[in-house]
Amino acid sequence: MTTAVCPGSFDPVTLGHLDLIERARALFDEVVVGVAHNAAKRALLDVETRRTLLVDAVAGIPGVRVEVVPGLLAEFCRDVGAVAVVKGLRGGADFDAEHPMALMNRHLTGVETVFVVGDPRLAHIASSMVKDVARHGGDIAGLVPDGVAAAVRSALVTPNPSPSGGTP
Ligand code: PNS
Repeated sequence: MTTAVCPGSFDPVTLGHLDLIERARALFDEVVVGVAHNAAKRALLDVETRRTLLVDAVAGIPGVRVEVVPGLLAEFCRDVGAVAVVKGLRGGADFDAEHPMALMNRHLTGVETVFVVGDPRLAHIASSMVKDVARHGGDIAGLVPDGVAAAVRSALVTPNPSPSGGTP
């Protein structure tokens, strides 16, 4: 059985993430969605909210489960027996950001990274932009799975107090 990890900060999960998770599942027997901390970002949603929204979003996809990544992604992959990290690429900027991370993860534990080219119909969807649209009162319902828009609106009213988003 082959296992892959789809990691991300998922702040919040979007329809682009969901498409990637479904496509990763078509390539691997099992997909573990890893909710991780990105040191370069301050999360809007706390880690438990991000995890819960993902659990709901992937509930209909067999062979997919969601876990919080407690530390290094490469070590998490080793611990869950994953042969690969799967990441989506919307364009060149994504590759530029992902390439050094893929090299570092391989250096740390030997885990490979597999890149999947994003669906062009979803290329405009990024968590950062979703939050910006919501912050300015725009409708994000068509960009995120059910229930996520309400959670984002609520977090904008009561922001997450933890700079790391509550990730250990
Ligand atoms: O969705 P993102 O923010 O682009 O995902 C980046 C993420 C969270 C996968 C990355 O920051 C990460 O792997 N964080 C876990 C800590 C870690 O392993 N850091 C070293 C990365 S090379």
